[in-house]
Amino acid sequence: MKNKFSGIQAVGQIVAEFPQAAEIFKEHRIDFCCGGDKTLTAAVKELNLNENNILDKLNQAYATMENQHNDIGEVDWREESLTHLVDHIINTHHLYLQREMPQISEYVTKILRVHGVAHSELRKVHKLFHLLKLELEQHLIKEEEILFPLIKQYEKMSTIQMLEKIRTVTNDIESEHELAGDIIKELRKITNQYALPADACASFRVAYQKLEEMESDLFQHIHLENNILHPRLLSNA
Ligand SMILES: [Fe+2]
Ligand SMILES: [Fe+2]
Repeated sequence: MKNKFSGIQAVGQIVAEFPQAAEIFKEHRIDFCCGGDKTLTAAVKELNLNENNILDKLNQAYATMENQHNDIGEVDWREESLTHLVDHIINTHHLYLQREMPQISEYVTKILRVHGVAHSELRKVHKLFHLLKLELEQHLIKEEEILFPLIKQYEKMSTIQMLEKIRTVTNDIESEHELAGDIIKELRKITNQYALPADACASFRVAYQKLEEMESDLFQHIHLENNILHPRLLSNA
């Protein structure tokens, strides 16, 4: 069977076409959201990975999925209405952050208090997480109050002026994604890939687990916005 994917494709496009690729990319730390326009070849080179190995995994996973006709309700967001996509982003990813960030805040504060003396990196974790929380709170408001209503309006009645306005906002939004991506990468580095120390208590475990979950959700979230939502608007020009 002919291979589905090749190194010249952009990593974000691969995930847009085959959402399960996100798992393979995450496993190898390939950034498919903020670094989504890089080709697979460029992305693996940067990380010193074996390109054939990654391509084999992708192509095999795709072939397995096809064999199983495993299209059980997997939505292709390139085909749905923009309004539906925007509502999905809010109901899935924005609600997740609004629910989880206050809880994570309590955990990272608690472990700083209990373990901060023995583990000085927790000061940085506390600071980086709260910086990210602050940035994201404003970011979600900007999307929900400015960008998404514009997109919904644009879908009903498209004008060049409105598209121009949307473009200005998406440029801003993408810089904010870049910043959030940098913070989340720094968090992974400072926690040594969320490795728990031998003396970690249950709160420590929950804090790291929740931070790692947030990373994963955020990657998927930014991917939908950067690689699907925004390009779909630009292609309407
Ligand atoms: Fe968002
Ligand atoms: Fe966003």
